[in-house]
Amino acid sequence: MTNTPKVVRTSTLADFKAQGRPIVCLTSYDHLTAGIFDLAGVDVLLVGDSAADNALGYSSTLPITIEEMIPFGRAVSSAASRALVVIDMPFGSYEPGADVALLNGIKMLKESGAAAVKLEGGERSALQIQALVQAGIPVMGHIGFTPQSVNTLGGFKVQGRGDSADQLLADAKAVEAAGAFAVVLEMVPAKLASEVSAQLSIPTIGIGAGAGCDGQILVWTDFAGLHGGKPRKFVKQYAQIGQVLATAAEQYVSDVQNRVFPTVEHEFE
Ligand code: KIV
Repeated sequence: MTNTPKVVRTSTLADFKAQGRPIVCLTSYDHLTAGIFDLAGVDVLLVGDSAADNALGYSSTLPITIEEMIPFGRAVSSAASRALVVIDMPFGSYEPGADVALLNGIKMLKESGAAAVKLEGGERSALQIQALVQAGIPVMGHIGFTPQSVNTLGGFKVQGRGDSADQLLADAKAVEAAGAFAVVLEMVPAKLASEVSAQLSIPTIGIGAGAGCDGQILVWTDFAGLHGGKPRKFVKQYAQIGQVLATAAEQYVSDVQNRVFPTVEHEFE
């Protein structure tokens, strides 16, 4: 089933869609996890602006800046030998218009080492996508629930239900027409996401959008169980790394306090 080329490019993702081969994507913000995910066969590593809450401790993705995103991008790009590395354009770096998007997109690509950028919005971001693509910068779109618009969307809500389905389809088509190589569908009803995937020639990457998408993405801290509490409905936890780390840290605290660590085997002569 798996087709694993040596290097994944944007054109590889188009081939995967044509072959019906699901595209595997995961976020990453650092060198070590990026290397592990790359070796495991993840096709796309997204340096998501979810680094804002997952790495920097912000309460949303809104505050993160280009300057903060770039080092995450460099760390991931330098670890990936196979995966396509895509970096998020943060809030404020493309909304003012195509010229601003182009300048910031060029800066992010040059300084992060990523091969492509991602930005949020459908029809409203079409001119920005077009300008970037025309300048040679591959763009991944992102529609449905767009975290940078959490304040206008009224919180974490499924998008495209009822009458708004037509707008979601129009957004998907606008992203495709503007030249994006793929589009993320976040928190979209599964039936609608399947329909969008069937109507688009570019791959759809789902997160909370069901099995009918051409690929799937998860935030790595969610899939690895780093957060406490109940995961969101669309998350599958593949490990409980948070618990493993907590147990290890407690053991270390106890060992040092009780002089169990270090022992002679850890000493230099
Ligand atoms: O920043 C991010 O992690 C994302 C994913 C949710 C797709 O955009």
